[in-house]
Amino acid sequence: MKRIPIVAGNWKMHKTIAEARALVDGLKPGVAGLTGVEVVVCPPYTALAAVREAIEGSAIALGAQDVFWKEKGAYTSQVAPSMLVDAGCRYVIIGHSENRGRFGVPEPEMTEALLRWFGETDESVNVKTKAALAAGLIPIVCVGETLDERRAGKTDEVIAGQVERGLAGLTAEQVGGMVIAYEPVWAIGTGETCDTPEANRVCGMIRSVVERVFGADAAQAVRIQYGGSVKPGNAKELFSQEHIDGGLVGGAALEAESFTQIVRAALS
Ligand code: 13P
Repeated sequence: MKRIPIVAGNWKMHKTIAEARALVDGLKPGVAGLTGVEVVVCPPYTALAAVREAIEGSAIALGAQDVFWKEKGAYTSQVAPSMLVDAGCRYVIIGHSENRGRFGVPEPEMTEALLRWFGETDESVNVKTKAALAAGLIPIVCVGETLDERRAGKTDEVIAGQVERGLAGLTAEQVGGMVIAYEPVWAIGTGETCDTPEANRVCGMIRSVVERVFGADAAQAVRIQYGGSVKPGNAKELFSQEHIDGGLVGGAALEAESFTQIVRAALS
């Protein structure tokens, strides 16, 4: 089965409304008419409405960077899945390492106490993923190991656990329709990319976990992105690997020219 690659820009905490509009205006000509790749932008919540308007009539889809697992209630500051649908989102990133308090470039002022603020766990990823699917959103569930975990030889064990717990209880059909992003924490925002064979190996390992738990059809259908310092210069090689179905892009998605080049690198 041929999987359509998906390239998503995670804008993280960047872009005012005016900057967001300008970025989309810059992107549209370069991705117009492309078939064979899905393009997603995930702006901060404050720019969702403006970006929804700006992408109208283009093939660019809208995504959010997180979601809560309840539909309504006394949950100050949280955003419900149906609210994201209402805002025009089709995708939602869930379980990003930065939400799990696992940073590629730790900042000195980020004390242990402050780090605890980032409370995402595999269990919260699981309930968020179920809620997102129930609302009709397509989750992009992020997994990845830290440098310490990699050095300790625990990469596969850590990631398999994140996949199994994060997706526990989903149907094979749900898993086949979603996206998993492999983002090694040590490669995020650091300029270091996981070398291509290793990135492909880990994505293949994720696919085999999906196969073991959800069956061969789900494993063949699920799209697995690589994320972590994806740039115009390394995208083509990464995206041409058997198990890598596009990318989740941070820094290089903040600029129209580089994101467009990365999107085009996913065309076969
Ligand atoms: P960078 O592309 O800036 O390394 O970020 C990757 C990422 O975290 C995307 O979600």
